Amino acid sequence: MSTKFDISFASSTPEKGDLAVLLKSKGAGSAAGLAFVDPAGVVARAAEIAGFSDKQMTVLDIVAPERSPFDRLVVLGLGKPEKLTAYDWLRAGGKAASAIKRAKSVTVFLDADGVEVDADKAADFALGMILQAYTFDSFKTKKKDDEDKPAENVRVTIVTGAHAEAAAAFATAQAVAGGVNLARELVNLPPNVLGPVEFAARAKELEALGAEVEILTETEMQGLGMNALLGVAQGSARPPRLAVIQWKGGKPDEAPLSFVGKGVVFDTGGISIKPAGNMEDMKGDMGGAAAVIGLMHTLAARKAKVNAVGILGLVENMPDGNAQRPGDIVTSMSGQTIEIINTDAEGRLVLADALWYCKERFKPQFMINLATLTGAIMVALGTHHAGLFSNDDPLADNLLKAGLETGEKLWRMPLGKEYDKIIDSKFADMKNSGGRNGGAITAAQFLQRFVGETAWAHLDVAGTAMNSPTTEISQSWASGYGVRLLDQLVRNRYEA
Ligand code: BES
Ligand code: MN
Ligand code: ZN
Repeated sequence: MSTKFDISFASSTPEKGDLAVLLKSKGAGSAAGLAFVDPAGVVARAAEIAGFSDKQMTVLDIVAPERSPFDRLVVLGLGKPEKLTAYDWLRAGGKAASAIKRAKSVTVFLDADGVEVDADKAADFALGMILQAYTFDSFKTKKKDDEDKPAENVRVTIVTGAHAEAAAAFATAQAVAGGVNLARELVNLPPNVLGPVEFAARAKELEALGAEVEILTETEMQGLGMNALLGVAQGSARPPRLAVIQWKGGKPDEAPLSFVGKGVVFDTGGISIKPAGNMEDMKGDMGGAAAVIGLMHTLAARKAKVNAVGILGLVENMPDGNAQRPGDIVTSMSGQTIEIINTDAEGRLVLADALWYCKERFKPQFMINLATLTGAIMVALGTHHAGLFSNDDPLADNLLKAGLETGEKLWRMPLGKEYDKIIDSKFADMKNSGGRNGGAITAAQFLQRFVGETAWAHLDVAGTAMNSPTTEISQSWASGYGVRLLDQLVRNRYEA
């Protein structure tokens, strides 16, 4: 079980607690005014003995002295607090959360060290705690004896001057936490449990938050001519779905922002089957769709003042007697024909119809699609940046900025005629694979053929959505990448 935090903000300190978290910034003296927490001045001594400085995100963990109302003291180094970004405050909260161990009641002294911590930073700190605590262990029936078992419910009091404002900002932060952890959960879930139908049902649940959700069936997609998407799905015993989630928080006549996600619940490669090694990771091939549902959750839960549409293309890519073949030619909803070269280049086929549908039906201000689209983007950028491709410089710049603010970083990649030419086909309008060279770029060029003149950005999240490194705010295989990034973009540019 992930630890559940019951977080509240206060201006004064509870009588007693298991653990006090103190922040220590560079150059500051001993935590001023906290003599009652550390009556014997042990923090300074322990710091000296342990060689603890005030370096950012380092931790000093000690038993509290006798007359302290706490049992343990955790001192968290902040470095130079004026240099901390919003993301750093998340990291600080995450770092504190991972130091909690068995404590059941925790008091965090946020601005004790003479550091001004405003409401947003306090809420970010709390959000970092929640994100760090997320674990996926619902399928584990036994715990190992030596496993460090954190408490299931922890009461957290965050002591800060701006406590009322912080509590308000925290309501928004909880909407973000809900979205990120929803995205993580869906990516972590095994593919037998989460098929297209089950994923669509999770989308339907957003109606409880006031979103409008339609689920298109196979028959309805046939009626619309979505043969690119349907071709991918035809080898699976589980039927595809297209989920359309609308959040109407803006002016009634304002065109929506739109987000489109690749939701391949499992990608075997189809007839162009993948090798066995690590194929289990392909349960995460719906990371784009997971980010979109997570974002829509966040926007609805915090009642964002925008109109937004989220579209999820949900299919399974399987080899089968009825599976699509290399050599097949399909006619997409746009009317453009596609020669299938490699059935493992399936994500772009799903997105081709989802993007076209989105553009035609909603005439959105922009379309941003997220997809675990290519292994090539991982070769290029590794796991610390997602690939950004865009036909619109202002949109790309806004995304890059939101990436730096949230720590969900992007790196812009090129598009161009020379690359586009590579996917021309001898037999159809285009082919679905341009080969190894520039594989992430030719995949993006393919998508661009389905967006027309709409401002568009494609985020290739193959390296960032899953198989993620542990960070201060995540111990999860699935990072939930994209939810905070896009929520930040919406806040920065579309809600003011
Ligand atoms: N889902 C994969 C891309 C992927 C690979 C995501 C590893 C996450 C981790 C995608 O459908 C795929 O198979 N792409 C192929 C395209 C190729 C056949 C043109 C690839 O990248 O090799
Ligand atoms: Mn594939
Ligand atoms: Zn795939």
